[in-house]
Amino acid sequence: MTKPITLATYLASQSAADAALRAVVANVAQTCAEISRVVAGGALTGSLGAAGHTNVQDEEQKKLDVITNDMLRAALDGCAPVAGLASEELDTIETTGREGGFLVTFDPLDGSSNIDVNVSVGTIFSILPAPAGKVPDEADFLQPGRRQAAAGYALYGPQTMLVLTLTEGVAAFTLDAGGEWLLTHEALSIPADTKEFAINMSNQRHWAEPVRRYIDGCLQGKTGPRGKDFNMRWVAAMVADVHRILMRGGIFLYPWDAREPDRAGKLRLMYEANPMSLIVERAGGKSTTDGVAPILDLQPTKLHQRVPVVLGSANEVDQVGAVDQVGA
Ligand code: AHG
Ligand code: MN
Ligand code: MN
Repeated sequence: MTKPITLATYLASQSAADAALRAVVANVAQTCAEISRVVAGGALTGSLGAAGHTNVQDEEQKKLDVITNDMLRAALDGCAPVAGLASEELDTIETTGREGGFLVTFDPLDGSSNIDVNVSVGTIFSILPAPAGKVPDEADFLQPGRRQAAAGYALYGPQTMLVLTLTEGVAAFTLDAGGEWLLTHEALSIPADTKEFAINMSNQRHWAEPVRRYIDGCLQGKTGPRGKDFNMRWVAAMVADVHRILMRGGIFLYPWDAREPDRAGKLRLMYEANPMSLIVERAGGKSTTDGVAPILDLQPTKLHQRVPVVLGSANEVDQVGAVDQVGA
């Protein structure tokens, strides 16, 4: 049997990526391996339940949101090429006092409503170039997703996996029992066609008309305009829903809805939508706000900006765009 390739060996082979960038990726990956142990410990590590306060987005923080956030902060603060970081769980950016190198944005625990019921959760991260010759400020973080130097996520599921994109392509690693990341999937590619959609149907009454019509077409199955039966899946952790799409195709929607018209969508651009969009595009899928506009081209205006998300199998995302163009 050939020896599996470790993450360290894989990173060493990625000579098209800056060595400092690879060091940041290794640091985040190591922290995710440590987070995996805390997550797996559940009640035994005293990490379940609410932390007793809310974050900047007015969401109740779970203990694990706080624990994982602190683990990533500490690790990145000690990582030489990192000049600054931003997190879903922090009101403002934090700087390390260093200049140049990279900025890291992250969702330390995605899908935190799943944690107390032992369902998959994850960590999402995005790495951006930092400005040279100055300590970064918030404006330096507001770069379009296309400028990401790398992006990835860890999925804490039946297996703990790390999915990464550096300069090109998407690779996935599985954490072995000894705590080592081993390459298990190379050149991941999302099939262009699918019969599986993921959306929180309980929000149906709040959706815009094109999304209603698109989903209605899927629900009509063989006898409707699409001429095929669809299946529905919703894990309620973007990491897990996107991972399924990377493995076997599908479409994921967290669309604009009318609950809070000024707050476009639920998912956050800088540490959820952008890193996932880079991974999805690099795997041959599409990631848009509405079936048409690529998320990676958006110019961010706020650190905690929210965006509608429609991503996944290319032809299916195009279907949403086609409905959209017909108009409401
Ligand atoms: P987070 O736990 O980081 O706040 O993110 C949860 C997000 C996302 O992962 C998921 O797709 C969505 O919220 C689930 O939303 P619903 O509550 O509508 O199911
Ligand atoms: Mn999240
Ligand atoms: Mn989170």
